Amino acid sequence: MIKGIVTKIARREFARALKFEEGATPQLHTCADEKQRLLYMHIPFCEELCPYCSFHRIIFSAPFARRYFQSLRREISIYREKGYKFRGIYVGGGTPTVLIEELAATLDLARKNFDIKEISVETNPDHLTEKNIEILRRSRVNRLSVGVQTFNNQLLKKMGRLEKYGSGEIIAEKLKSTQGAFDTLNVDMIFNLPSQTQQELDADLDILLDLEADQVTFYPLMVSRITRELLEKTMGEVDFSNEYKLYRLINRRLEKDYKFSSSWCFSRRESPIDEYVVDYDEYAGLGSGAIGYLNGACYANTFDIEKYIGLLEQDNLPLMAERRFALVDQMRYDFLMKLFGTKLDMMQLEDKYDGKFSKTLWKEIGFFQIVRAFRYFSPFLYLTPWGRYLWVIMMREFFIAVNNFRDYCRKQAGIV
Ligand SMILES: C[S@@+](CC[C@H](N)C(=O)[O-])C[C@H]1O[C@@H](n2cnc3c(N)ncnc32)[C@H](O)[C@@H]1O
Ligand code: SF4
Repeated sequence: MIKGIVTKIARREFARALKFEEGATPQLHTCADEKQRLLYMHIPFCEELCPYCSFHRIIFSAPFARRYFQSLRREISIYREKGYKFRGIYVGGGTPTVLIEELAATLDLARKNFDIKEISVETNPDHLTEKNIEILRRSRVNRLSVGVQTFNNQLLKKMGRLEKYGSGEIIAEKLKSTQGAFDTLNVDMIFNLPSQTQQELDADLDILLDLEADQVTFYPLMVSRITRELLEKTMGEVDFSNEYKLYRLINRRLEKDYKFSSSWCFSRRESPIDEYVVDYDEYAGLGSGAIGYLNGACYANTFDIEKYIGLLEQDNLPLMAERRFALVDQMRYDFLMKLFGTKLDMMQLEDKYDGKFSKTLWKEIGFFQIVRAFRYFSPFLYLTPWGRYLWVIMMREFFIAVNNFRDYCRKQAGIV
């Protein structure tokens, strides 16, 4: 019953909070403070498009992607001119490694402009080549995150990944030979895929434990309305009723060797960047369709990639939508993200909000206390195991709301 209530309220509230304002052109303010933010860069190209994926991506074409990377570098320069400082970089996609030299040139430019301490890059198993690994290491990438999803060949086939990325056995071999090349090698998995059984997930966990992966991120299946339709045609029904059972299985199998970096990220040791939304209060989103959170506002770049390139070729920023959060929503955002990292420092948030944090969020804090989602050891709130699952629900609903927003923008840009 609690699961149902949390799902319903989270769905309603995130849909409301993520209603972006249209019409007015959002502005990027100049920045005069020394706050260390994260620089998120989005690379919207993939060689194949997987049917379950709601990210902003199109089929890769080298000449187009080359122009895209040039524009991305212009965008980095604009942020520097506006006074922004960044400490960390996260490159996500799509598949950021489609043009490895372009990616390296972009990371080099960012490192020249900012005092970067940590870099995380996403990739797919096909791109784990010696050449790519060498280039990424030279670009000082600390964390490489590889999309695996499952090692089960039947599921990989249904997901359209078996032919492209090879069997589970081949992928495991590639991961094994990449182990040790970066401070953190992260493996992205998905659980609660349509038709996935407990036994299939258990077999995935056997392989992960055997690999001794530095870090495993186990995303619950999260689909937008459009992706859900597509996925149900190819893989079967999307059903959340097994999610808790499968999540408990993951916890049981991993908790001996891993600690929780977030409700769904398991690390063997400290990693430079786990979940940037947890580690950084603010992040800038660069690249087509990137979403940033700066100065209490969420904003998005245009999803029209041609338009994105064109605007930057004229040295114009490609911002297309903004959602300014009321103070209470900024507090809720911090409450959500900090606890997603499994612990929240009440003192820090009281300081940030002039002593008004718990007074304003008394209903939210009270509700989750009554349902035993966390324990309080002053000044920290710590999620309980049950609370970690409630936060899986909350974050799943948050990302579904983001995915629905992406669907809408992609439609406007004529992509879907
Ligand atoms: C944007 S992808 C980039 C990785 C790379 N393109 C690949 O697929 O190997 C990052 C990760 O998001 C996760 N992801 C994609 N679609 C998802 C969905 N519908 N639900 C949950 N996780 C998803 C997958 O684990 C994926 O590896
Ligand atoms: S899962 Fe990765 S490869 Fe597949 S479409 Fe999404 S971003 Fe591209």
